[in-house]
Amino acid sequence: MQFIHYGHACLKLEGRSDAACIMDPWLSRDGAFFRSWFQFPENHPFQDDAVRGVVDICLSHNHEDHFDLGVITKILEEHPEAKLHIARFPSSWFVRHARRRLGALADRVVEHDPFAFFPLRAGGEICFVPEESPGQVDAAMVWRDGDRNLLNLNDARLNTDQFLRIKEILGHVDAFCLQGSGASEYPVCYDYDPGDLLRRRMEKRTLKLEACERVIDLMNPNRVLIFAGPPVFLDPGLNAMNDASATSVFPDQLDITRHFASRRPDIAERCWFTMPGDRLDDDHLFSRTDLTDPRFQAYTDKASYIEGYRERRMDLLPYDWGDLPPMGETLAHFRRMATVSPWASEKIGGSVDFVIHGKRDKATYSVDFARGLAAEGPSANPLYVLEAPAASVHEVLEGRATWDDVMLSLRMVFRERTPRFVPHLKTLLKYQDAETLERLAEYEEKLQRRAATEETIRVESHGKCFRIARHCPHAGVDLLRHGEVNDDGTITCMAHRFRFDLSSGECLNAKGFRLEVRREAPSE
Ligand code: FES
Repeated sequence: MQFIHYGHACLKLEGRSDAACIMDPWLSRDGAFFRSWFQFPENHPFQDDAVRGVVDICLSHNHEDHFDLGVITKILEEHPEAKLHIARFPSSWFVRHARRRLGALADRVVEHDPFAFFPLRAGGEICFVPEESPGQVDAAMVWRDGDRNLLNLNDARLNTDQFLRIKEILGHVDAFCLQGSGASEYPVCYDYDPGDLLRRRMEKRTLKLEACERVIDLMNPNRVLIFAGPPVFLDPGLNAMNDASATSVFPDQLDITRHFASRRPDIAERCWFTMPGDRLDDDHLFSRTDLTDPRFQAYTDKASYIEGYRERRMDLLPYDWGDLPPMGETLAHFRRMATVSPWASEKIGGSVDFVIHGKRDKATYSVDFARGLAAEGPSANPLYVLEAPAASVHEVLEGRATWDDVMLSLRMVFRERTPRFVPHLKTLLKYQDAETLERLAEYEEKLQRRAATEETIRVESHGKCFRIARHCPHAGVDLLRHGEVNDDGTITCMAHRFRFDLSSGECLNAKGFRLEVRREAPSE
């Protein structure tokens, strides 16, 4: 049995029989997210090899760079016995989404409980470990066969208890695959001034690399594959996103492996360095990679490589921003958005303006979450002004895409008009779904209750002592292990960098979260 990496997050398990399993295929010629992302390095020529013999498809989550509808449909149509396996998440949004996208093939989707191993026809068995928060649909995959195993973390933000349970089940981790580059619209689509943007970019890059380092240390695997990104952006309008500098928020596999080589050689020596179609074996260790070999040109001469790649996709580019969607349909959509979850609306607690840009004209709509209303025209004091291409908004209105897809296309502009991060707005845009938001409300309330009654810890900052809840009110991470007390009377939860005022408990960079705190007398 062997694993082959087909680029990005796509792994194929070839078994003892003709049967194969594929994880997170993304092999389409037309990329993802309205032709903004393209696979890096190009892997479309490997599509036939990658899908040959596949009877089990395992998906971590819904994003198009993992859930390639064209390729999955092809596999399911060609092999009547093939199945699409996904995790059973805290909300049913993903299974409904997958079945809707697959239409007549919907009955081939199989949900699996967390940590419940099931056999693969290629050999061995696999289970999913989904994120616990209903506001994040993503899952790790754990495969084992005898004493061989592979943990495919992807970009799932598991908590420490989940990691430790995986470790206990596996005993040791042979191969650990994880995403080294965040790929989201923050901060590159925000209208921060250049100095602020640079600082935020560096912070994001550093945080992601530190997070990788932490989980690699925690799992202590024999081999590491840094994968799942970043893509390249072939649309000339997005070329700036291909920034290859040390401040890019999208460091590639070579940048990250080199980062480890200089900072943590013990990690770098365990890293594979692969091109699409390479097997996960020791021939493809970074230490054995000859970067002067022309096969690595994608990495060593990236700008020329992207130019050639763009030439090969000119039939798909540039993106046509389209015409404005009809006002009636657009308003109806925004009214649903304002009322789909009274809980999320209350957390957002203000207005958001949406400016939709067509190729000829633009239109502005305001969504007043506080009052559950939407109207044409701007609002007086919006929390955000969000700009988006008309053609992408059309797809959202037709139900073929989500606002998350539009955000990930990186063609949106976020004009922040509030000093606070409003996380529930992002969640609402990602999952405009009553059930998901209801589950999330229950989950966050459970965390708040736990924080109020549960174990506390003592911290000191700026010469003062505080007693605080041990677990972060955002997603329950243990602050004893993952909280960093700052000199200015605040604590930062390193899981997602929410910063809390130790005197008031107020979250200083996100709205809607409060840490239980109280002052304590200083110790002798
Ligand atoms: S768990 Fe997300 S910031 Fe603490």
